[in-house]
Amino acid sequence: MQKLSSLRLPWPTDWQAVFGADRRLILEIGFGYGAFLLHLARQNPDANVIGVEIAGQCLSHVERAIERQRLTNVRPIHATAETTLHHLFTPASLAEVHINFPDPWFKKRHSHRRLMQRDTLDALVNRLQPGGLLFLATDIIEYAEMSAELLASTPGLDNTLSTSWVNTLPGRVVTKYEGRAQREGRPCHYFAYRRNTVPAPAIPIIEEHPMSHMVFRSPLSLDEMLARFESAEHRVGDTVVSLLYGYRGRNNLLFEVFIKEPTIDQHIAFLLTKRDHDDEYTLKLGTLGYPRTTAGVHHAVSILGNWLVSLHPQASIITSKLPAE
Ligand SMILES: C[S@@+](CC[C@H](N)C(=O)[O-])C[C@H]1O[C@@H](n2cnc3c(N)ncnc32)[C@H](O)[C@@H]1O
Repeated sequence: MQKLSSLRLPWPTDWQAVFGADRRLILEIGFGYGAFLLHLARQNPDANVIGVEIAGQCLSHVERAIERQRLTNVRPIHATAETTLHHLFTPASLAEVHINFPDPWFKKRHSHRRLMQRDTLDALVNRLQPGGLLFLATDIIEYAEMSAELLASTPGLDNTLSTSWVNTLPGRVVTKYEGRAQREGRPCHYFAYRRNTVPAPAIPIIEEHPMSHMVFRSPLSLDEMLARFESAEHRVGDTVVSLLYGYRGRNNLLFEVFIKEPTIDQHIAFLLTKRDHDDEYTLKLGTLGYPRTTAGVHHAVSILGNWLVSLHPQASIITSKLPAE
């Protein structure tokens, strides 16, 4: 089975092309060892079932199970929920979303990592089609209470239950974490909401920008530039660009960079190449890994390029292809 990831799929993704069939879309976020995901696929032959997960071991486990069971309507994807919702799906495209036992992130300083939070829920509401369903299960009472509050204050969703949650949901396949909670005597809390026709918060699909690069002139050699390199962290709005390391190639320098944007993290490389004219250099995105040209990548080119030019008073930019310029 071809491994899929949010970095390799087109933004937004043409799911009909991925599955070879135009069917309604069901998404499970954080499927773990996949019992529920496979159950969804078996129960819904009329649907394309997409599971997203960040743990490599879980992905491999589920890929093997899908092959063994010869299921053709389910695909696991290496992706975070945030990237999935903002980059892969178009508005009003999802028929169902399932979230089973999300990581609680108990500590207050980690609360921004929780799946159930306003920004992610808004994106989810935007991507659900009218009448589409959202199911959530958790065994953590604090998480249930926090989610109940968040869901109740979401105009685009209606509760399909007569209480905030229920403690049993017959007919469910028991997930790994659900089984553990049951064995340890902790009650589970199940939520079921339906997308109504209240307009969703406007959440654009994040697509790629054209490639950016910078050409500059500098009297400094590659070695002189590398000698001046120091790791540094730069913030541009809600994006963090970390310049990590510089390496010497035969006719170039490679800079290792980590870019953290609200909906995607990328660990990529930029190449500084000497041009035919002795004192001219081109700085551009390298092809190591699978870089995608997000706004954060443009910030990184700009930060790195301007730093390189700042190293010498006679250095100057010849051309700079960046979106803001
Ligand atoms: C507590 S486990 C629950 C697994 C499974 N759903 C179950 O009920 O047994 C949470 C799962 O969510 C995954 N996960 C955590 N953060 C995620 C994110 N931002 N996007 C996608 N999956 C995530 C973790 O790797 C883990 O497998």
